[in-house]
Amino acid sequence: MAITGIKGFNDILPGEVEKWQHIEATARRVFGLYGFAEIRIPILEKTELFARSIGDTTDIVEKEMYSFEDKGGNRVTMRPEGTASVMRAFIEHKLYAQDPVAKLYYLGPMFRYERPQKGRYRQFHQIGAEVTGVTDPKVDAQVLTMLCQFFAELGLTEPQLQINSLGCPDCRPVYRQALKDFLRAKLDLLCDDCKRRFETNPLRALDCKATGCKEATAGAPSVLDHLDAACQEHFAAVRKNLEAVGTAYTINPRMVRGLDYYTRTTFELVTGLLGAQSAVAAGGRYDGLISDLGGPSLPGIGFAMGVERVALLLAEEEFRKRPDLFVAALGDDAQAEAFRLMCALQKLGVAVEMDYEGKSLKSQMRRADKFNARFTLIIGGDEIAKGAAQLKNMDAGIQEEVTLAAEAVAGKVKG
Ligand code: HAM
Repeated sequence: MAITGIKGFNDILPGEVEKWQHIEATARRVFGLYGFAEIRIPILEKTELFARSIGDTTDIVEKEMYSFEDKGGNRVTMRPEGTASVMRAFIEHKLYAQDPVAKLYYLGPMFRYERPQKGRYRQFHQIGAEVTGVTDPKVDAQVLTMLCQFFAELGLTEPQLQINSLGCPDCRPVYRQALKDFLRAKLDLLCDDCKRRFETNPLRALDCKATGCKEATAGAPSVLDHLDAACQEHFAAVRKNLEAVGTAYTINPRMVRGLDYYTRTTFELVTGLLGAQSAVAAGGRYDGLISDLGGPSLPGIGFAMGVERVALLLAEEEFRKRPDLFVAALGDDAQAEAFRLMCALQKLGVAVEMDYEGKSLKSQMRRADKFNARFTLIIGGDEIAKGAAQLKNMDAGIQEEVTLAAEAVAGKVKG
């Protein structure tokens, strides 16, 4: 029996991969406009890094990490996300000493042992961006506006931006207590997970999909009514800045994130088109994370998008690459001529295909159809004798004679 891949670990095949390249190129271009530089971080980190940053009692750390002991007996984990690693690198290489304001982006695979379904995989890919060193709410608006610009440049009207504030270590405990007091009388309704984390992480019940949890949390106190004055002011300024630059958003006071490091602004870009996996991108502020990881006391904010989910939102056909030209040839001499011409054109930057096996004209034309080349050129004995052939523009359905010289063909095909 043939060996298959591992469940939840996908191959990204030609046809699909062009869409990924387009997503990545758009991200690089748009993020570049906002002054972000790329950082490449390793896939494997010390387990402790994620336990300390994402939080011991989160689903990710409790249940979903690919952790193991390496041959040297070290506890290591395949990164479930990028923020912790980027901040570890920021601290380790003292990037803050050159400039506390760093704008960094990254892309690559992440690993979580979740139950695979459409839009949810065990190896998935994120494109993420992080900014350190700025408390001013202008930067929250910049990060969100950049993310919305990215989706707009992909031509997507979905997903839509939702924002919330989770307060800070001063006001969140007050809210937690208010929520616990509210939920205590309804504990029986909560699902097993929410019951278990009632003491450690009661906020999770707010965005739990279980019917009982929805019922129990109906009418629950809102985090936004419990923000202290500084957090209220920050949230109001984020909203004002978003409005000033025309970035549309809605407020979702029930949004709680599955990672513990968030403070103040949190956000998600959500879609109704992907079933249960509604978050296409998500992130927020993490003003305590850098110091928690042993770095200086600097704030941070960022997001990550799931590339698979973005790809699902994009129509497929648009991204298939078409060769510029398909060359068909009849007979051995023409085959040799077509091959020489193809190689010369490729060196001139023209994307050319031919049928290497030199089958019948009919089968060569079937192949030409499959490639959907923009132009075709058919070479036989007469054409070689004349030194010219008919170049057919497949979209316009018209043809014209062209000299059988690479420069001449390239001139016509590249337009
Ligand atoms: P997250 O919400 O855990 O946040 O993940 C961000 C995005 O990654 C999700 O919105 C989703 O699109 C995608 N994603 C997550 N898990 C999966 C999965 N199993 N399969 C497919 N896609 C998935 C973070 O990871 C934070 N580090 C974001 C951040 C950056 N916050 C601040 N800076």
